Amino acid sequence: MDTYNMYVRGQEKEIKASAKRTLLDAAAAARLPLLVGCKGGGCGVCKVRIIDGMIEHGFYSKSVLTDEERSAGYVLACQARPLSDVTIDL
Ligand code: FES
Repeated sequence: MDTYNMYVRGQEKEIKASAKRTLLDAAAAARLPLLVGCKGGGCGVCKVRIIDGMIEHGFYSKSVLTDEERSAGYVLACQARPLSDVTIDL
């Protein structure tokens, strides 16, 4: 069972998420507008911060998601997949 809930800080929305799809795809399915660019981990437009929960980061360029940002909880929504319930900050 790889189905989780994704919560957005400051919003009442509960979004169905899955380890089989990215945070961006889950947000799009729930009509939550996230900024999107290349969808390939190369531009950084979709960067969000994980407040709580575990994430598989997926492919990304360190030029758009630095080690410091990653340590601070940032992920690229077009690449990251949840491994638990997650709360994100837009
Ligand atoms: S949309 Fe470009 S890195 Fe996610």
